[in-house]
Amino acid sequence: MRILLTLFIAIIATSCTNPNKDIVNSEKDYQIIPKPVKLEIINGRFVVDSKTKITGDKSLENEGNFLAEMLSTVSNTDVKFDTKSNGNIILKLDNSIDNEEGYTLSVTYDKIIISGKTAKGVFYGIQTLRQLMPAGIETEKNSVTEISIPAVIITDNPRFVYRGMHLDVARHFFPVDFIKKYIDLIAMHKMNTFHWHLTEDQGWRIEIKKYPKLTEIGAWRNGTVVGLYPGTGNDEKKYGGFYTQEEIKDIVKYATSKHVTVIPEIELPGHGGAAIAGYPFLSCFPKEKSIVFNDMGSKKGKEIQANGTPKIVQETWGIFDDVFCAGNEETFTFLQDVLDEVITLFPSQYIHIGGDECPKANWERCPSCQARIKKEGLKDEHELQSYFIQRIEKYLNKKGKKIIGWDEILEGGLAPNATVMSWRGTKGGVEAAKQYHDVIMTPGHSVYFDHYQNKNKDNEPLAIGGLTTVKDVYRYEPSPIGLSAEEQKFVLGSQANVWTEYMKTTDYVEYMILPRMTALSEIVWTPKDDKNWEDFDTRLQNIVKRYDVMGLNYAKHSIKKK
Ligand code: ACM
Ligand code: ZN
Repeated sequence: MRILLTLFIAIIATSCTNPNKDIVNSEKDYQIIPKPVKLEIINGRFVVDSKTKITGDKSLENEGNFLAEMLSTVSNTDVKFDTKSNGNIILKLDNSIDNEEGYTLSVTYDKIIISGKTAKGVFYGIQTLRQLMPAGIETEKNSVTEISIPAVIITDNPRFVYRGMHLDVARHFFPVDFIKKYIDLIAMHKMNTFHWHLTEDQGWRIEIKKYPKLTEIGAWRNGTVVGLYPGTGNDEKKYGGFYTQEEIKDIVKYATSKHVTVIPEIELPGHGGAAIAGYPFLSCFPKEKSIVFNDMGSKKGKEIQANGTPKIVQETWGIFDDVFCAGNEETFTFLQDVLDEVITLFPSQYIHIGGDECPKANWERCPSCQARIKKEGLKDEHELQSYFIQRIEKYLNKKGKKIIGWDEILEGGLAPNATVMSWRGTKGGVEAAKQYHDVIMTPGHSVYFDHYQNKNKDNEPLAIGGLTTVKDVYRYEPSPIGLSAEEQKFVLGSQANVWTEYMKTTDYVEYMILPRMTALSEIVWTPKDDKNWEDFDTRLQNIVKRYDVMGLNYAKHSIKKK
């Protein structure tokens, strides 16, 4: 009894003397984006020191090491994760949490507990904890004097299962390191999908072993249009690049460790010009020139390559008639071979097959395409496009994959299991949900981050046009009106699209996504009723301190002055 009493007194004495126990926190200590579902402020602060240790199950080692690295930025510490120690930071799986991505975070002066239904939930708990720590932790080891974390109890989970960022690496190409940085940003904002737009008219960016000319020829263009389309000339500089399969594997592995799914997009039947440049048989008219010039005199005479091939990679933007031939069996053999290699590289359940902006002019005058229409009893070229997509879908479904396509895949009949990405406003999304198809909302007016973000365009870098401010993004409601409660369930979430015709550098990409993706992250995570622009706008001031330390380029004019 006496021993127990002594122990009790010792515990009381220790806790009473801990100066961090009763510190009173205020709302400004909890500037988290996306705003958590439930947050209870309590007294006390947890201070990281040389005795701080992280404990968790072996299955949480990836998350534990991620947190350990973050905490070791404080001077004179080397915080470790292990499965045995009696750590004062505990990571655990908790099956009583309903949501697959949900978590609870409890911080008291002497202990932190992060529980998730899955490792992903625990990871998101760590991302929240990260925002409760000083921005200085975004630098190197041992560079922060103190990490003091305000006590709190948070219960949190996302509103939507699909929370994505797209990046077009075809119009302009970005190095592996930047792709990883982009994935880091996605993860930091508790988004979970990277839609990687890998093929286009202006460049093919993924190594395909069976068809080396896709990258030998298709990854390089001989020049790029200057200025806003149709432009004022051509820079005449060879431009391009591609990702090897080893680099892709490395990126996918990296993304997996950050709980980000990578969905590759292989565009068909339109926007395939770079593939056609390498393999002209994919075109309805292999001998026709691929580049048609209007007033861009500087490129005249370059339509035919030195080796006599009339197909070269496009050097300007837009939509081109030279699409994959839907009549030729070889087109399908080629695409299936390509997809076979793509499937081995990407564990994602989805493959995005494009489907947008496919002009029908060549199909109308192509004998093989017309023969296909007749043979299959199709009504017109729209049904031919539908035949094309359905045939690819069937192939991918057999391989255990699902397709996503831009909303044009609704035209001529939707492929039976396809998910629709609604980009021309919300109409396609509504129509697909009414047909009980899954939908991802990416409407141009709200989440096209290639638009200008400032009314004063004169002070902005060149963009495609449009205007989507950070407030416009924040105002966006992904569940479109006109759907019943049952139909709403098919809306999986939302994504921002980043088309890079005018984004030549990684700095520029950062500028265009930040802080608009910060706003989108809250739209897809936080309950609709908790949306509050003024509150978000204030929290934004805090998260950009982190962007500053991380050396990110963001649109400073979008941040309210204090
Ligand atoms: C698109 O913006 N063409 C999908
Ligand atoms: Zn054809």
